[in-house]
Amino acid sequence: MPAYIVMGAQWGDEGKGKIVDVLAEKMDFVVRFQGGANAGHTVIHGDKKYVTHLIPSGVISGRSINIIGNGCVVNPTTLHEEMEALKSQGVVFSPDKFIISPSAHMVLPIHQYLDKALNEKIGTTVRGIGPAYTDKVQRTGIRWESACDGSFEERYREHLDFIEKVYAIVDEDEMNSLRSGISDLVAAVNRLAPFVRDARPLLAEAAKNGSKILYEGAQGTFLDIDHGTYPFVTSSSTSIGGAYTGSGVFLDFNKRIAIIKSYTTRVGEGPFPTELFDSNGDKLRKNGNEFGSTTGRPRRCGWLDLALLKESCMINGFNYIVFSKISCLSGFETLQVAIDYNSDGSPVYKEFPGWEKETEGTTNYDELPENCRKYIEFVEDYLGVPIGIVSTGPDRDNVIERIPIFA
Ligand code: IMP
Repeated sequence: MPAYIVMGAQWGDEGKGKIVDVLAEKMDFVVRFQGGANAGHTVIHGDKKYVTHLIPSGVISGRSINIIGNGCVVNPTTLHEEMEALKSQGVVFSPDKFIISPSAHMVLPIHQYLDKALNEKIGTTVRGIGPAYTDKVQRTGIRWESACDGSFEERYREHLDFIEKVYAIVDEDEMNSLRSGISDLVAAVNRLAPFVRDARPLLAEAAKNGSKILYEGAQGTFLDIDHGTYPFVTSSSTSIGGAYTGSGVFLDFNKRIAIIKSYTTRVGEGPFPTELFDSNGDKLRKNGNEFGSTTGRPRRCGWLDLALLKESCMINGFNYIVFSKISCLSGFETLQVAIDYNSDGSPVYKEFPGWEKETEGTTNYDELPENCRKYIEFVEDYLGVPIGIVSTGPDRDNVIERIPIFA
C-alpha cells in the first residue's frame, strides 16, 4: 500500500516542504496529524509562491483530499486567513476535498496571550500552541465539533470565565478585549464549519483500497513532547506515534521518510550539543539562509549530530533518508560530525576534509566532489538507512535521486 510519512529527524526546518510538495502532487490524500500554525512552509509551483502554515500541501495541486487531523490545534482566524490568501492565488477549497477533524482543538486568542506571558524561557513561536494543547489535556479545551452543533459561542464564553478564575496573569483589560472580540471569532468559526467532518472512515477505506496517502509531519523529532529535549519542545507528538493518535487510523507506512539537514539547526531555547558560536556557525547560517520562516528568528547552527540522528531513526523506524542542503557545505576547510557523546555530554567528533566546488543544482551523484560523497556515505553507513535523495538546492529539480522515491 503506497502510504508515505515525511518527518523532520532533527529540530525542525530540515527542508520537509520541498519533498512534501513533490510527493503531495501525486497523492490521493494528504494528512496533517500534529501541530498548528507554528510550522511554516513555502511552496513554489511554476512562477507562483504559496505559503502554508497548517493547511496540507495537497490543496495546491487540487488533486487530493486534504485532512487536518484530530492531533492538530487549529486557530479559526489564522486558518481562515491562510485559506483566503491561497484562494486569492487560485487555490480552491471545497468540503469534499478539505476536511478539519471535529476532534481537533481550537487555538483561541487567550492561548496566544498565555503563550506570550508564560513560555518565554522555551522561546516558542507565540502562536498559542502550548496553551491550546494544555487545555486539551486539561479537558477544558474547545473542539471543532462545536462549530457544527452551534455550541461554540457558549463554550467560548464559559472558557473565558474559567480562564479569568484560574489565571491571575490575565488582567481585566485583557478580559474585556477578549470578550469584545467574540463576534469576530464566531464569524471565523462559522465560515469554517462546512469543512468540519470525521475523515477517519474515508482514510481507513482509502488505506484498504490502495489509495496513495501522505502524512506530512511538522517540526522535528527532537521537538516531540515525549521524545524531544523536554521541556524545550513543542506540545505535540512530532514523531511517528503522533501519526496514529493524530489521525485515528492505522496505516502500514511503506515509506518512512526522514528529512535530515546535512548540518544541524534549532530555533528557540534548549540543548544543542554541536552548536557553533564561531565563524563556522555564521557561515552555515549565511549559506543556508537560516532564518525562521514563521517567526524570522535567526536559527542556531551547528555540525551534523549523528548520535542524535541514530536515536531519531530508532524512534521513527525510518527506511529512506532525504539528505538536504548539501550545497550549503561547500567552502569549509574541514567538517566535524558528532558520532558519540563524552560523559560530560560534549560531542565526540569525527573530522572530514571539506570541498570547495559549488554543488547547487547538481543532479548527478558522481558529479559531487569526492569528499562530499564520502561525507554522505559515512552518514548512510552510520545510520544504516539508505539516503535516497540528496537535495542540492531550493528548486524542486535540485535533487539527486539515488533511489526512486515513488518505487
Ligand atoms: P511552540 O511550538 O510554538 O510551542 O514552540 C516550542 C519550540 O518548538 C520552540 O523552541 C520553537 O522554536 C520550536 N518550533 C515550533 N515550530 C517550529 C518549526 O516549525 N520549526 C522549528 N522549530 C519550531
